[in-house]
Amino acid sequence: TVADLKGLKQGSLRLAVITTAKYIIPRLLGPFCELYPGIDVSLQVTNHEGILERMTANLDDLYIMSQLPEHLDIQFQPFLENPLVVFAPVNHPLSTETNISLERLAQEPFIMREPGSGTRRAIQSLLEENGIKVKVKLELGSNEAIKQAIAGGLGISVLSRHTLLSDAHQFSILDAQHFPIKRTWYIVHPSGKQLSIVARTYYEYLLEAAKRIVEEEIIQS
Ligand code: PGA
Repeated sequence: TVADLKGLKQGSLRLAVITTAKYIIPRLLGPFCELYPGIDVSLQVTNHEGILERMTANLDDLYIMSQLPEHLDIQFQPFLENPLVVFAPVNHPLSTETNISLERLAQEPFIMREPGSGTRRAIQSLLEENGIKVKVKLELGSNEAIKQAIAGGLGISVLSRHTLLSDAHQFSILDAQHFPIKRTWYIVHPSGKQLSIVARTYYEYLLEAAKRIVEEEIIQS
């Protein structure tokens, strides 16, 4: 347990997380680094494809991702929910409608993440399953850039709800059929790899933090 490891003085921790997790992981690192000031942390933020590449090359101790790799021998643990929702500008005409169909959404110009993004893949499989094609007006390689484009009136998009921060007043989350797309963040590491004490300590810390976050959300809602 964390208490057993009070002597944990030095070491390094290498993390790689998908882009949506960057809205939560850096914040959770604060208290951990305060607890263990001698530990150096490197945190890489990349898309789904980038995580797979890093994992294949065995570059990091722990990974956070939504869609588990099919061809790698891994161990995984659910961490938190990562729902995908439909973002529109705040005064968008659809913002007052309910139960909006995919057909109706498809009439709006769409902003899409880059190939290699897990978010993109999740939207595409939903659209394919339902035989719907959207008009992709713009393709952007960052959740933040997409939010700016939405706020600028260029179109609608599907993003993780976690990307909403204090800027939530700039957006409407549309009440659409099939949404939210339910996803989960997992903490992942290669099966054959023995976790360092530092990595194990951080792993336990993350699970504790997740429990606390879930409890706080239940209390708030
Ligand atoms: P992405 O990750 O940055 O690859 O879209 C998000 C996800 O897979 O949940």
